[in-house]
Formats: sequence, C-alpha cells, structure tokens
Amino acid sequence: MTDRIGPAAHLLVTGGAGFIGSELVRQVLARRDGTRITVLDKLTYAGNRANLAAVEDDPEQAARFAFVRGDIADPVVVDPLVAAADAVLNVAAETHVDRSILDPEAFLRTSVIGVHVLLEAIRRETERARAGGRPAAPRLLQVSTDEVYGDIPSGHSVETDPLAPRSPYAAAKASSELLVRAYHVTYGLDAVITRGSNTYGPHQHPEKLIPLFTTNALAGEPLPMYGDGMQIRDWLHVADHAAGIDFVLRHGAPGEAYNVAGGHLLPNREVIEMLLAAAGRDWSLVRTVPDRPGHDRRYAMDGSRLAALGWRPARTFDEGLAETVAWYRDHPDWVASARSGDWDSYYQRQYGARLAAGRAVDEAP
Ligand code: NAD
Ligand code: TYD
Repeated sequence: MTDRIGPAAHLLVTGGAGFIGSELVRQVLARRDGTRITVLDKLTYAGNRANLAAVEDDPEQAARFAFVRGDIADPVVVDPLVAAADAVLNVAAETHVDRSILDPEAFLRTSVIGVHVLLEAIRRETERARAGGRPAAPRLLQVSTDEVYGDIPSGHSVETDPLAPRSPYAAAKASSELLVRAYHVTYGLDAVITRGSNTYGPHQHPEKLIPLFTTNALAGEPLPMYGDGMQIRDWLHVADHAAGIDFVLRHGAPGEAYNVAGGHLLPNREVIEMLLAAAGRDWSLVRTVPDRPGHDRRYAMDGSRLAALGWRPARTFDEGLAETVAWYRDHPDWVASARSGDWDSYYQRQYGARLAAGRAVDEAP
C-alpha cells in the first residue's frame, strides 16, 4: 500500500499538547523512524505540556521534536511552520460540548478562523510546490468527530451521510470540514478528514464523562448523570484513535473523509456502572441531574470504509476502561493540575444548580 508520507517526514501537529494530539505525538515519535514533529499549541485550559514529557525526556525523541506555543488563528505563527512541514495534522479545537453551550465564541474562533488560517497557509505552499519551489505540497489531515452527523436514532452513519450538527461544538467542527472540502475542491489542496467517535484513555481532561466520573468517584464526590443516562456513545481508546489518524494520514485518498469508529456502543449508565466497579465505588454516588440542552441521544458510525483500507481498532473497552481508571488513580498530580485555573468556577457554573436539583438514582442498569 502506498505511504503518502515519506520517511523522515516533518509533521506539524496542532493541538499536540491535548488529549488525542499528545497521544499521536508520543505514538509516532516512539516508532523511532526518523519522523520529526513540531507541535503548535495555544495551551488553553485543556492543553498541558506535561502530556509530552515522555517525548521531551527522551533524548532521541526530543531531538526530533519542537514545541511552539501559539494560536492556529495567528498567521504570523502559522505561516512559517506550514512552510517547513510535509504534512499538517489539525488536532487543535475547543472540544467540550457543555462549554460550547455556555460560551460558543472560542469554538468558532479556533474551528472556523483558525482552520481558515491553516488552509490559506497550505494553499500558498501548494502553489509554491506547483511552481517548483518545494518538492511536494503539504497534506492536511483535519481531525473531526462523529458529532457532525448529529443525533442518529438508529443505524450507523456512513461518510456520505449529510452533516447535521446540533451543538455549537459540532457546528464548529462541521464548519471546519466544509472549509477543508471547499479548499480541496477549489484550490486542489491535498486534504483528508477523520471522524472519530467518543474517545477515552489517560490524559483526557476531567471535564469529559469518563475522566470526570472516574476522578469524582475516586474522591467520593457525586456523579452528575444527565437525564436518564440512556444516551448512547461509541467508545474508542485514545491509542486506537491516534493510530487511526496516523493511518489515514498515510493511506487516505485525497478529498475523502473516514469514520474512525470504536465499535463499542454503550448507554452512559453501563459505562458508569463499569467505571464505578473499576474505582471500587457503588451506584450511591450517582445523581440524575437536569439534562444538557439539545443533548444528542445516540451516535453510531460504520467503520467499514477504513476497514476496507486495512485499519480497525484493537483495544477492548473493558480492558481500556480498567487501565484508564487505574491511570487516574495513579496520577493525582496530573488531575490536580487539570482541575486548577478556571476549574472551580466552570464546575460551579455547569453543575452547581444541577447538583442542587439532582436526586439519587437507586438502581444500577
Ligand atoms: P483537548 O481539548 O484535550 O485538546 C485540544 C488541544 O488543542 C489543547 O492542547 C489546546 O491547548 C489546543 N488548542 C485549542 N485551541 C487552539 C488554538 N486556537 N490554537 C492552537 N492550539 C489550540 O481535545 P481532544 O479531546 O484531544 O480532541 C482533539 C481533536 O479531536 C479535536 O479536534 C476534537 O474535535 C477531536 N475529537 C475528539 C474526540 C474526543 O472524544 N475527545 C472525539 C472525536 C474527535
Ligand atoms: P462527553 O464526555 O461530554 O462527550 P460528548 O458529549 O462529546 O459525547 O459526554 C459523553 C456522554 O456523557 C454524553 O451523553 C453526555 C454525558 N455526560 C453526563 O451525563 N454527565 C456529565 O457530567 C458529562 C460531562 C457528560
């Protein structure tokens, strides 16, 4: 199979200090195949340079790695980095649905303006390659999400389905995709898109379901379950998600989108039951609280396009979840740092009134 990324390539990974981006960087550099990576990350509340310690503490990997703190919406920072890259993996985004409901603007700034700045830089480099000024145009991999398909009451989304986002987060991500597709069609940019399903694993910010409920359970604090807890998500381990992104970067056809499906469809209640067992706690911590507005009931994707190309996820959810809970138990300093900054005011805004109105749920699923 053709590898569209040559040996010892130089990759620009935006958002590489976040959950999935840092896993991708660690995974690719640990192969020790000569690949170089520059991370461009704004270090928002969700970015954490400690997520890259494994790379920065290893002299061989550190020699192939550079970190730039900056915003993808800033062309002064972006342009020279794109000019020096063989491929751009745009992993950067504001990523939490609840924060997008409280305050959508930052989501649009990064996923619309930021993506436009990246696309303009790649467009210039594509023209430079056509004029013989560089050997090849940079390939863009845009990391997207199953949330662009919207609520899927039954069946599984395929890549040709319409985009029907229903939260400000999902609308911002769908907007990125539309811009990427327009630049591919209009200017001939070499671009591919991945749509990953709900991802879990070590280093995920504790605002998301699994790390929030795990860290609260370990601390003996209440778990705020939205509504009846029967919403369904398709869970994908972060190591699989990063491997899927890397695979599409190397083997995806220009202009195509690929579902990176986890293959583990579960109602939230079942996930909560499993993580409580792994944390050694019981259902008495769970509170049903007023639901998220516009809450999508179900996401489900068909992963056969990527399977036909030769890739499928490897991790089982049972093992992955148990390891994840153990990781949070073993990394209290990381958790404390993620729960610093605006965490208390965010938690109060998101959960204060909800928990006050919440009630115990006495039965497990
Ligand atoms: P995350 O919130 O953990 O990390 C995002 C990173 O992007 C952070 O390091 C942050 O500092 C950085 N960032 C944000 N805005 C930036 C900007 N303007 N310029 C530069 N850096 C910026 O997110 P994640 O969960 O790792 O998600 C990564 C990508 O994967 C996102 O595009 C997200 O939409 C997508 N995705 C996530 C999931 C999931 O379940 N977590 C599922 C599917 C797709
Ligand atoms: P989340 O991790 O925010 O991912 P997404 O909304 O992007 O799928 O939430 C996963 C599911 O868990 C979703 O159905 C909302 C639910 N949830 C709760 O019930 N309580 C919470 O406090 C959070 C953060 C999520």
